[in-house]
Amino acid sequence: MAEDLLAVSGLRRSYGAVTAVDDVSFTLAEGGSLGIVGESGSGKTTTARIIAGLERADAGRVEVAGRDRSARSRGRADRLRRAREVQMVFQDPFLSLDPRVPIGAALRETLRLHFPRTDPALRVAELLDEVGLGGREAAALPRHLSGGQRQRVVIARALAVRPRLIVFDEAVAALDVSVQAQILGLLAGIRAETGIGFLFITHDLGVVRSVADEIVVMRRGAVVERGPTESVLGAPGHPYTRLLLDSVPRPGWDPRRIAEARRCLD
Ligand SMILES: Nc1ncnc2c1ncn2[C@@H]1O[C@H](COP(=O)(O)OP(=O)(O)OP(=O)(O)O)[C@@H](O)[C@H]1O
Ligand SMILES: [Mg+2]
Repeated sequence: MAEDLLAVSGLRRSYGAVTAVDDVSFTLAEGGSLGIVGESGSGKTTTARIIAGLERADAGRVEVAGRDRSARSRGRADRLRRAREVQMVFQDPFLSLDPRVPIGAALRETLRLHFPRTDPALRVAELLDEVGLGGREAAALPRHLSGGQRQRVVIARALAVRPRLIVFDEAVAALDVSVQAQILGLLAGIRAETGIGFLFITHDLGVVRSVADEIVVMRRGAVVERGPTESVLGAPGHPYTRLLLDSVPRPGWDPRRIAEARRCLD
């Protein structure tokens, strides 16, 4: 069995009376791709932010490549090292790109921060090429690019630090279906080439089917089901997973039946 790249155990996080994450545990194998699905408010983003180190857990443990990330970081070098381990890509690239900084300069900034002794120029060109962009985009400001191109830039910036794991939180949700497919194809290639592990959070079961080897299903802060993507989606064991599958609109789909099934679950 491959060594675990990521091991999450007993994670908990509350916000006042709301328990966002309630005893969540799962693992991700080296080079693997794990999807987290679940309806809005089920605790997916909170789990992701804890793993990325953007949020503190009330309890539990996060290990990446056997190293504990749960303890408070010890200074700047430790923070940078942790950032290099896990990168996060969000839904809205506008929020993660500085509107005044051209793309190439933004990538150079990231490279200088993490690899101060290396000349970034060559690496910037390489990174842009890896995500299917070039010199024209390097000189452009974020607002001059399309949504898909901006997300490619954010992916290039995540790759710049050579992470072990990238967490994608609804990273293709805002894109047109055809652009989504392009980005998902790009990511599949990147994973095959680099062996970087993916944690892919999405409410879109079609997306998760195409990117994830394994799925974790979350409901109300807890994991209700996990397993290989094909078996979870093909023969869900938990009624909530069946409900999620039934909630995908298709011909003959009846929202009243879904509402009824949901009441039975409660
Ligand atoms: N900073 C916060 N302050 C207060 N409550 C929060 C905070 N972050 C999350 N929550 C609450 O925790 C619960 C889980 O939220 P979370 O964002 O993790 O869900 P999610 O599964 O990512 O949902 P979505 O699919 O809508 O993105 C929700 O009830 C949410 O309102
Ligand atoms: Mg979320």
